[in-house]
Amino acid sequence: FNSRLLDGVHLTITAGPTREAIDPVRYISNHSSGKMGYALASAAADAGARVSLISGPTNLPCPDRVQRIDVVSATDMHNAALAVMGQCQVFIACAAVADYRPVNCADQKIKKDNESMRIDLVRNPDIVAAVANHAQRPFTVGFAAETQDLLHYARDKLQRKNLDMIVANDVANTSIGFNANDNAVTVVTPGGEQSIAQMGKNQLAVQLIALIAQEFHCSQS
Ligand code: PMT
Repeated sequence: FNSRLLDGVHLTITAGPTREAIDPVRYISNHSSGKMGYALASAAADAGARVSLISGPTNLPCPDRVQRIDVVSATDMHNAALAVMGQCQVFIACAAVADYRPVNCADQKIKKDNESMRIDLVRNPDIVAAVANHAQRPFTVGFAAETQDLLHYARDKLQRKNLDMIVANDVANTSIGFNANDNAVTVVTPGGEQSIAQMGKNQLAVQLIALIAQEFHCSQS
Protein backbone atom coordinates (compact mmCIF):
# COMPACT_ATOMS: atom_id res chain seq x y z
CA PHE A 1 0.00 0.00 0.00
CA ASN A 2 1.42 3.35 -1.04
CA SER A 3 1.75 5.22 2.25
CA ARG A 4 2.20 8.55 0.45
CA LEU A 5 -1.18 8.42 -1.34
CA LEU A 6 -2.75 11.08 0.90
CA ASP A 7 0.31 12.78 2.40
CA GLY A 8 -0.55 16.31 3.50
CA VAL A 9 -4.27 15.92 2.71
CA HIS A 10 -6.82 16.80 5.41
CA LEU A 11 -9.71 14.39 5.19
CA THR A 12 -12.95 14.40 7.18
CA ILE A 13 -15.15 11.33 7.65
CA THR A 14 -18.60 11.08 9.24
CA ALA A 15 -19.37 7.71 10.82
CA GLY A 16 -21.89 5.83 12.92
CA PRO A 17 -25.56 6.57 13.61
CA THR A 18 -27.18 9.73 14.94
CA ARG A 19 -29.65 9.76 17.82
CA GLU A 20 -32.69 12.02 17.72
CA ALA A 21 -34.10 12.59 21.20
CA ILE A 22 -37.78 11.99 21.95
CA ASP A 23 -37.48 12.68 25.69
CA PRO A 24 -34.59 12.52 28.22
CA VAL A 25 -34.39 8.70 28.01
CA ARG A 26 -35.55 7.79 24.48
CA TYR A 27 -34.38 8.39 20.91
CA ILE A 28 -34.82 7.44 17.24
CA SER A 29 -31.75 5.87 15.62
CA ASN A 30 -30.56 3.06 13.33
CA HIS A 31 -28.25 0.02 13.32
CA SER A 32 -25.03 1.67 12.12
CA SER A 33 -22.09 0.45 14.24
CA GLY A 34 -19.50 2.87 12.85
CA LYS A 35 -17.29 -0.02 11.62
CA MET A 36 -17.16 1.13 7.98
CA GLY A 37 -16.43 4.78 8.80
CA TYR A 38 -13.79 3.91 11.41
CA ALA A 39 -12.11 1.50 8.94
CA LEU A 40 -11.95 4.34 6.39
CA ALA A 41 -10.49 6.69 9.00
CA SER A 42 -7.81 4.15 9.85
CA ALA A 43 -6.97 3.43 6.18
CA ALA A 44 -6.80 7.17 5.39
CA ALA A 45 -4.42 7.78 8.33
CA ASP A 46 -2.26 4.87 7.08
CA ALA A 47 -2.19 6.58 3.65
CA GLY A 48 -0.71 9.72 5.23
CA ALA A 49 -3.86 11.86 5.59
CA ARG A 50 -4.64 14.09 8.54
CA VAL A 51 -8.02 12.64 9.56
CA SER A 52 -10.96 14.21 11.42
CA LEU A 53 -13.60 11.61 12.32
CA ILE A 54 -17.01 13.08 13.17
CA SER A 55 -18.63 10.19 14.97
CA GLY A 56 -22.11 9.47 16.26
CA PRO A 57 -22.39 7.17 19.31
CA THR A 58 -20.47 3.89 18.76
CA ASN A 59 -18.64 1.33 20.90
CA LEU A 60 -15.45 1.56 18.84
CA PRO A 61 -12.06 2.87 19.99
CA CYS A 62 -10.70 5.87 18.08
CA PRO A 63 -8.16 4.67 15.45
CA ASP A 64 -4.50 5.73 15.95
CA ARG A 65 -3.50 9.15 14.56
CA VAL A 66 -7.16 10.13 14.04
CA GLN A 67 -8.83 13.16 15.65
CA ARG A 68 -12.34 12.15 16.73
CA ILE A 69 -15.12 14.69 17.21
CA ASP A 70 -18.00 13.09 19.15
CA VAL A 71 -21.57 14.08 18.28
CA VAL A 72 -25.03 12.71 19.09
CA SER A 73 -27.70 14.17 16.81
CA ALA A 74 -27.83 15.04 13.10
CA THR A 75 -27.89 18.72 14.07
CA ASP A 76 -24.64 18.24 16.07
CA MET A 77 -23.07 16.35 13.15
CA HIS A 78 -24.14 19.08 10.70
CA ASN A 79 -22.56 21.80 12.89
CA ALA A 80 -19.33 19.79 13.33
CA ALA A 81 -19.11 19.16 9.56
CA LEU A 82 -19.60 22.83 8.70
CA ALA A 83 -16.93 23.79 11.27
CA VAL A 84 -14.23 21.57 9.71
CA MET A 85 -15.20 21.59 6.02
CA GLY A 86 -13.37 24.84 5.20
CA GLN A 87 -10.08 23.24 6.24
CA CYS A 88 -10.38 19.82 4.56
CA GLN A 89 -9.75 18.74 0.97
CA VAL A 90 -11.70 15.46 1.06
CA PHE A 91 -15.02 14.77 2.84
CA ILE A 92 -16.43 11.23 3.14
CA ALA A 93 -19.99 10.85 4.47
CA CYS A 94 -20.29 7.31 5.81
CA ALA A 95 -22.62 8.14 8.73
CA ALA A 96 -26.18 6.85 8.78
CA VAL A 97 -27.77 10.20 9.59
CA ALA A 98 -31.40 10.16 10.74
CA ASP A 99 -33.45 11.82 8.01
CA TYR A 100 -36.01 13.15 10.54
CA ARG A 101 -36.00 14.27 14.19
CA PRO A 102 -38.87 14.81 16.63
CA VAL A 103 -40.23 18.37 16.38
CA ASN A 104 -40.07 18.63 20.18
CA CYS A 105 -37.99 16.79 22.74
CA ALA A 106 -40.11 16.42 25.91
CA ASP A 107 -38.50 17.94 29.03
CA GLN A 108 -39.58 14.99 31.20
CA LYS A 109 -39.90 11.26 30.50
CA ILE A 110 -43.16 10.73 28.57
CA LYS A 111 -45.70 8.78 30.67
CA LYS A 112 -47.77 6.00 29.14
CA ASP A 113 -51.11 7.68 29.81
CA ASN A 114 -52.67 6.89 26.43
CA GLU A 115 -53.26 3.72 24.36
CA SER A 116 -51.53 5.31 21.38
CA MET A 117 -49.37 8.35 20.72
CA ARG A 118 -47.91 10.29 17.82
CA ILE A 119 -44.47 11.76 17.40
CA ASP A 120 -44.28 14.58 14.87
CA LEU A 121 -41.03 14.61 12.90
CA VAL A 122 -39.23 17.27 10.90
CA ARG A 123 -36.54 16.78 8.20
CA ASN A 124 -32.91 17.02 9.28
CA PRO A 125 -30.43 19.01 7.19
CA ASP A 126 -28.62 16.95 4.55
CA ILE A 127 -25.01 17.17 5.73
CA VAL A 128 -23.18 15.80 2.70
CA ALA A 129 -25.30 17.91 0.31
CA ALA A 130 -24.53 21.04 2.37
CA VAL A 131 -20.79 20.28 2.15
CA ALA A 132 -20.91 19.46 -1.58
CA ASN A 133 -22.82 22.63 -2.43
CA HIS A 134 -20.54 24.96 -0.48
CA ALA A 135 -18.52 27.52 -2.48
CA GLN A 136 -15.16 26.11 -1.30
CA ARG A 137 -16.26 22.50 -1.46
CA PRO A 138 -13.87 19.64 -0.71
CA PHE A 139 -13.79 16.52 -2.93
CA THR A 140 -17.02 15.00 -1.62
CA VAL A 141 -17.85 11.29 -1.34
CA GLY A 142 -21.22 9.95 -0.16
CA PHE A 143 -22.57 6.52 0.59
CA ALA A 144 -25.95 5.19 -0.59
CA ALA A 145 -27.53 2.58 1.65
CA GLU A 146 -30.43 1.02 -0.24
CA THR A 147 -32.64 -2.05 0.10
CA GLN A 148 -33.85 -1.97 -3.56
CA ASP A 149 -32.83 -0.51 -6.97
CA LEU A 150 -29.35 0.12 -5.55
CA LEU A 151 -27.57 1.63 -8.56
CA HIS A 152 -30.58 3.63 -9.72
CA TYR A 153 -30.88 5.37 -6.33
CA ALA A 154 -27.09 5.72 -5.99
CA ARG A 155 -26.77 7.49 -9.38
CA ASP A 156 -29.70 9.72 -8.43
CA LYS A 157 -28.06 10.67 -5.08
CA LEU A 158 -24.69 11.33 -6.80
CA GLN A 159 -26.37 13.90 -9.03
CA ARG A 160 -28.95 15.36 -6.63
CA LYS A 161 -26.42 15.89 -3.81
CA ASN A 162 -23.73 17.19 -6.22
CA LEU A 163 -21.16 14.55 -5.14
CA ASP A 164 -17.88 13.57 -6.78
CA MET A 165 -18.32 9.90 -5.90
CA ILE A 166 -20.89 7.66 -4.21
CA VAL A 167 -20.39 4.25 -2.63
CA ALA A 168 -23.47 2.08 -3.20
CA ASN A 169 -24.17 -0.32 -0.38
CA ASP A 170 -26.88 -3.04 -0.60
CA VAL A 171 -28.17 -3.07 2.98
CA ALA A 172 -30.90 -5.65 2.27
CA ASN A 173 -28.08 -8.22 2.52
CA THR A 174 -27.41 -8.51 6.27
CA SER A 175 -23.94 -10.02 5.72
CA ILE A 176 -22.68 -6.72 4.25
CA GLY A 177 -24.83 -3.90 5.57
CA PHE A 178 -25.35 -2.24 8.92
CA ASN A 179 -23.25 -3.68 11.75
CA ALA A 180 -21.78 -6.49 9.58
CA ASN A 181 -18.03 -7.16 9.56
CA ASP A 182 -17.95 -7.41 5.75
CA ASN A 183 -19.03 -5.11 2.98
CA ALA A 184 -19.37 -5.24 -0.83
CA VAL A 185 -19.93 -2.03 -2.77
CA THR A 186 -20.16 -0.41 -6.17
CA VAL A 187 -18.31 2.88 -6.47
CA VAL A 188 -20.11 5.31 -8.79
CA THR A 189 -18.53 8.46 -10.26
CA PRO A 190 -19.90 10.68 -13.04
CA GLY A 191 -17.44 8.84 -15.33
CA GLY A 192 -18.07 5.19 -14.47
CA GLU A 193 -18.69 2.40 -12.00
CA GLN A 194 -16.48 -0.14 -10.26
CA SER A 195 -17.51 -2.99 -7.98
CA ILE A 196 -15.53 -4.25 -4.99
CA ALA A 197 -16.45 -7.83 -4.01
CA GLN A 198 -17.35 -8.88 -0.47
CA MET A 199 -14.50 -8.68 2.04
CA GLY A 200 -13.81 -7.40 5.58
CA LYS A 201 -14.57 -3.71 6.10
CA ASN A 202 -10.92 -2.96 7.00
CA GLN A 203 -9.64 -4.49 3.77
CA LEU A 204 -12.39 -2.85 1.72
CA ALA A 205 -11.60 0.52 3.30
CA VAL A 206 -7.99 0.29 2.05
CA GLN A 207 -9.28 -0.23 -1.51
CA LEU A 208 -11.83 2.57 -1.20
CA ILE A 209 -9.23 5.02 0.12
CA ALA A 210 -6.95 4.15 -2.83
CA LEU A 211 -9.80 4.85 -5.29
CA ILE A 212 -10.78 8.08 -3.52
CA ALA A 213 -7.14 9.27 -3.49
CA GLN A 214 -6.83 8.54 -7.21
CA GLU A 215 -10.02 10.42 -8.12
CA PHE A 216 -9.15 13.29 -5.75
CA HIS A 217 -5.70 13.77 -7.32
CA CYS A 218 -7.24 13.61 -10.84
CA SER A 219 -9.75 16.32 -9.85
CA GLN A 220 -6.86 18.58 -8.68
CA SER A 221 -4.89 18.37 -11.92
O1 PMT B 1 -21.64 1.67 10.44
P1 PMT B 1 -21.67 0.26 9.89
O2 PMT B 1 -22.42 -0.68 10.81
O3 PMT B 1 -20.28 -0.24 9.54
O4 PMT B 1 -22.53 0.27 8.53
C1 PMT B 1 -22.04 0.96 7.42
C2 PMT B 1 -23.17 1.69 6.66
C3 PMT B 1 -24.17 0.69 6.09
C4 PMT B 1 -23.89 2.66 7.62
C5 PMT B 1 -22.44 2.51 5.54
O5 PMT B 1 -21.74 1.65 4.68
C6 PMT B 1 -23.43 3.33 4.72
O6 PMT B 1 -24.02 2.88 3.75
N1 PMT B 1 -23.60 4.62 5.16
C7 PMT B 1 -24.62 5.54 4.61
C8 PMT B 1 -25.91 5.28 5.33
C9 PMT B 1 -27.03 6.17 4.88
O7 PMT B 1 -27.70 6.74 5.73
O8 PMT B 1 -27.22 6.29 3.58
P2 PMT B 1 -28.35 7.17 2.85
O9 PMT B 1 -28.50 6.55 1.50
O10 PMT B 1 -29.58 7.34 3.71
O11 PMT B 1 -27.68 8.60 2.73
C10 PMT B 1 -26.97 9.00 1.57
C11 PMT B 1 -25.77 9.85 1.93
O12 PMT B 1 -26.20 11.09 2.49
C12 PMT B 1 -24.82 9.24 2.94
O13 PMT B 1 -23.52 9.59 2.57
C13 PMT B 1 -25.21 9.91 4.26
O14 PMT B 1 -24.11 10.00 5.16
C14 PMT B 1 -25.62 11.28 3.77
N2 PMT B 1 -26.63 11.97 4.58
C15 PMT B 1 -27.90 11.48 4.69
C16 PMT B 1 -28.86 12.17 5.40
C17 PMT B 1 -28.50 13.41 6.01
N3 PMT B 1 -29.38 14.10 6.73
N4 PMT B 1 -27.23 13.86 5.90
C18 PMT B 1 -26.30 13.17 5.20
O15 PMT B 1 -25.13 13.62 5.09
